[in-house]
Amino acid sequence: MSKASAKAALELIPAFDIVRITEAAAVAAARLRGRGDEAAADEAAALAMYRELLQLPFAGTVVVGEGEEGEIPHLYIGETIGACGTGAPVELAVDPIEGSTLCAKALPNALAVIAVAEPGSFLKVPDIYMDKIAIGPGFEDGLVDLDASPKENLERLAKAKGVKLSEITACILDRPRHGRLIEAVRKAGAAIRLIGDGDIAGVIHTTEPQDTGIDIYMGVGGAPEGVLAAAALCCIGGQMQGRLMAANEEQRERAAAAGIKDFERKYSIPDMVSGEVKFAATGITDGSLLEGVRFTNGMISTHTVTMRSQPRRTRWIHTEHRDLSEFA
Ligand code: FBP
Repeated sequence: MSKASAKAALELIPAFDIVRITEAAAVAAARLRGRGDEAAADEAAALAMYRELLQLPFAGTVVVGEGEEGEIPHLYIGETIGACGTGAPVELAVDPIEGSTLCAKALPNALAVIAVAEPGSFLKVPDIYMDKIAIGPGFEDGLVDLDASPKENLERLAKAKGVKLSEITACILDRPRHGRLIEAVRKAGAAIRLIGDGDIAGVIHTTEPQDTGIDIYMGVGGAPEGVLAAAALCCIGGQMQGRLMAANEEQRERAAAAGIKDFERKYSIPDMVSGEVKFAATGITDGSLLEGVRFTNGMISTHTVTMRSQPRRTRWIHTEHRDLSEFA
């Protein structure tokens, strides 16, 4: 399959089809919202996303997912879904529930997320960690860098924005592993928005600091979420670097099985996502990026953001689903 026909395949996937995929996953997850059962919600959302993907006229290969074959029934890394044999190939990066704990506890910012791209577009990462740094668009390339100290990065950003360092807010996952980072950021004089989960939204928030109050994302989170966040920034603009990390024996084994040996390399956005990409996220619970799913008056309402990289375009879509059989 040539690059040209792979591009044509992406054209077959209008934005609204992408929306259907994350809407279906979000509705399935929202039915199990607040029930304290992460696994059940994950499974329901993955099945709903999988079923929607089956409807599309392409053969999608999951290259960024949440698990390996045999660990999860659907959407495992390497699975091919859709019009196999006949459909044009595309690559899928999926996260049926970004923030399973948030969904299980009905806390803000659980999302259903997908990115679709031409074959060979996504950095193939197993479920290990990635050290990340991200800022929004409009800055000189390389303004922030994973190898610079937190203070240096914050100083450079404050200078580029023409504000005092005390006016900068960093978003960081609230994890014990970030103790030193948190201390360094506070010592430098910046504020921190600590989040319980959901660093895809954390990274996206850096692109609209005037609305979100977040200027920079820093810290270690999931590598699959890193690639999905890079896909979003590929569409909106902004800078991001990621460096893969294996935090424990299980992650080291996953990394070895995926042939990852280089834990020094810094990946920029084009290293993580290249070519044309389409991205969608639907809110499961209410959050700072999107409202969650509502079940009211015999209707289901969803809020989704879709993005594409060529041309760069973002759409915010509020859908009222009155034909509930679609989500049976
Ligand atoms: P899940 O939905 O897979 O649980 O991911 C939620 C999340 O907070 C991600 O946004 C983040 O990248 C990752 O978990 C951080 O991992 P950990 O919880 O192990 O610190």
